[in-house]
Amino acid sequence: MIELDAQDKKVIDRLADKFPKGKQASSILMALNHLQNRYGWLSDEHLDAVAAYLEMPAARVYEVVSFYSLYKRAPDAPVNLKVCTSLSCCLNGAQGVKHYLESLVNDLPGQDASQLAFSVGEAECLGACDGAPVVIVNDADYHRNVTKESLQALIKEYRSSPGKHND
Ligand code: FES
Repeated sequence: MIELDAQDKKVIDRLADKFPKGKQASSILMALNHLQNRYGWLSDEHLDAVAAYLEMPAARVYEVVSFYSLYKRAPDAPVNLKVCTSLSCCLNGAQGVKHYLESLVNDLPGQDASQLAFSVGEAECLGACDGAPVVIVNDADYHRNVTKESLQALIKEYRSSPGKHND
C-alpha cells in the first residue's frame, strides 16, 4: 500500500481540522477532491492510503467513491463523454443513450480507459434539461436531444478530429 506524500498529508490535515476531534473521517469528500484534482483520478492505492490516513475502513471510502459520479476511477481518455442521468434525462432514455454510446466506442465497464480514445461516464444534471437527453464531451461541448443518429455523427466527428474542440 502506498502512503500519502507530505503535500497530500498537509492538505488533508488542514481539511480534517475543520471537523471536531475524532470526526476527521467527515473530511473524506474534500480529501478525495484534493487527490483527484492533484492526480487526475483515484486509484485503489490512493483510496487505501486516504482511508488509512483518516483512520477509517477502506470499504467506506470505496462506498463514497462509487456513490458519487464525480469521482474518476480511471484516467480520462482523450475524449470523455458523459451522459446526464438526472431526472429529465433519465425519463428521456439516458441509460439507453449511455449503453448505446458504450457500444459505439467499445468501452466496457472496468476496461482501462487509458487504452481508449473515448471514455463514457455519467454526469449529474448539466443544466440543459429542456434538451434531454444530454451528453457533454470533455466537460465543454454540449449535445442536446441526442439520438442514435446524432451520437453516431458525434463519435464520427471526434474520431476524425479528437482535439478539435479542446481549444
Ligand atoms: Fe439532464 Fe438536467 S436532467 S440536463
